[in-house]
Amino acid sequence: MGNNFFMEHPDFPIFRFDNILSTNSYLKQNIDKYAPFTTIWSDGQEKGRGRYNRSWISQKGKDLTFSILLPLNKSSIEYWKNITQVAAYAISEELKILNFNTQIKWPNDILINNKKVCGLLCEVVEQNKQSYAVLGIGLNVNSSKEELEIIDQPATSLYFESGKIVDRDILIIKVISSVISMSNELMNNGFFDFKSKILTRLAWNHEIRTIEDGKKQFDGKILDLNDDGTLKFQKNSGEVLNLISGEISFKKGS
Ligand code: BTN
Repeated sequence: MGNNFFMEHPDFPIFRFDNILSTNSYLKQNIDKYAPFTTIWSDGQEKGRGRYNRSWISQKGKDLTFSILLPLNKSSIEYWKNITQVAAYAISEELKILNFNTQIKWPNDILINNKKVCGLLCEVVEQNKQSYAVLGIGLNVNSSKEELEIIDQPATSLYFESGKIVDRDILIIKVISSVISMSNELMNNGFFDFKSKILTRLAWNHEIRTIEDGKKQFDGKILDLNDDGTLKFQKNSGEVLNLISGEISFKKGS
């Protein structure tokens, strides 16, 4: 696992590891040892996990892989499902400040030029009657073209897009503080204010795509984002679906 050290930060502690299997798995297993709003950051992950049981590939010492422990209040349970979407928007705002033009691939992937630069994995855990979101973030920061080519879907990094090495120590603090502040905003005020903001960045809006929802696949058109963050999608047959979760294909539908 390697040594870990504590980065002093006025608002949130960050524990940095050299190597870990998965920051999400580690934080879930050791949740009792960490205070709310702690981040577990590892330079390398040996078994990084993605959504749908996929693996998450990142380059040790070049990219960012970390998990934030967010306490969840039962009174805002209806917004728990929107955490990853709002976190994706928070990260996309930080990347905009660095001049990266991003799109949000519903529900929560971040793309640059139609290639994935960031993925999020949120797992809800209960500990002593308190619920927490373990929010895992994988951001391709400085990986090279060759390193990105081993990923089994179109992928990019901030370095590949800009030709400039990005300082991870500065970026991670900006991302964590933005994610924590926007997720607090979500819990206090709900999702509605985020809808129009996310919509302006929604990838492939009004384009024909294939969506996989569980074992079913549909070809059709993305119509809109609903007020609760679900996706309004029109099948080629004309039927309109409001999707709670699903995976939009990188390839255009037929
Ligand atoms: C996805 O796009 O499928 C989600 C990828 C999430 C990857 C991050 S990296 C840090 C954290 N630890 C993991 O094992 N996964 C998440």
